[in-house]
Amino acid sequence: MEVVILPTPAHCGRVVADILARVVEGRAGQPLTVGLATGGSPLLAYRELIRRHREEGLSFAGVRAVLLDEYVGLPVGHPQTYREVIRRELTDHIDIDDPDVHGPDGAAPDPLQAAVAYEHLVRDTGPVAVQVLGIGANGHIGFNEPGSSLRSRTRVKTLTEQTRSDNARFFDGPDDVPRHVVTQGLGTIGRAGHLVLTAFGSSKADAVAAAVEGPLTASCPASVLQLHRHATVVVDEEAAAALERADYYRYTLLHKLANQPH
Ligand code: PGA
Repeated sequence: MEVVILPTPAHCGRVVADILARVVEGRAGQPLTVGLATGGSPLLAYRELIRRHREEGLSFAGVRAVLLDEYVGLPVGHPQTYREVIRRELTDHIDIDDPDVHGPDGAAPDPLQAAVAYEHLVRDTGPVAVQVLGIGANGHIGFNEPGSSLRSRTRVKTLTEQTRSDNARFFDGPDDVPRHVVTQGLGTIGRAGHLVLTAFGSSKADAVAAAVEGPLTASCPASVLQLHRHATVVVDEEAAAALERADYYRYTLLHKLANQPH
């Protein structure tokens, strides 16, 4: 695992954008699927990608995208569905075709079936080259709450009250946050070629430390990154504050060989 500690969230956004831009530019006419996260953490990266598209000609033509998760029960088109959020925050502003952006169908009459269908869709649309991830204060990735099987597949999960209250800021009130979601499982996420987790702010410091340096455990779902062959954690100083090996990660970055991947 590579841990990249940077001074500010803006620096983190640029590094995550660099990683995505590199695979997009390097696709050389081959099909490419990227995995996108919603939430606040990747927004600066998405703004940077939009800027590069507008000012530097970065093209996403032909790229396919899969989302991590979706609320259950919000009607299609609801502004807080993640399908709408990703349109608003990224895909409406770049040259990716809207039908090539996929997310679980949270409005389906049978969400359990929708989860199975999405698992198949991710498998058939992939392989996901790069999966962007945020992390919840409780260590969740996607909406895999603590206790999620480390090999789980896409399924319906029940949100913790902490996650519902963390996300209440996007809704009129805490009671409006759905209780259930469809989320890619930890095993599903782990099939991506490169996992890029980004976080900033002190509220994420404990979760980041548990994910990177704590035991591999379903109690911290993000710790599953420790099993992945290519995981990058991009955090600002505040989110890195509880990392015991922070100096080593900085040292490693400073002394990286030209072709040393991670
Ligand atoms: P955030 O959420 O990016 O809005 O902090 C991350 C998460 O809960 O996975």
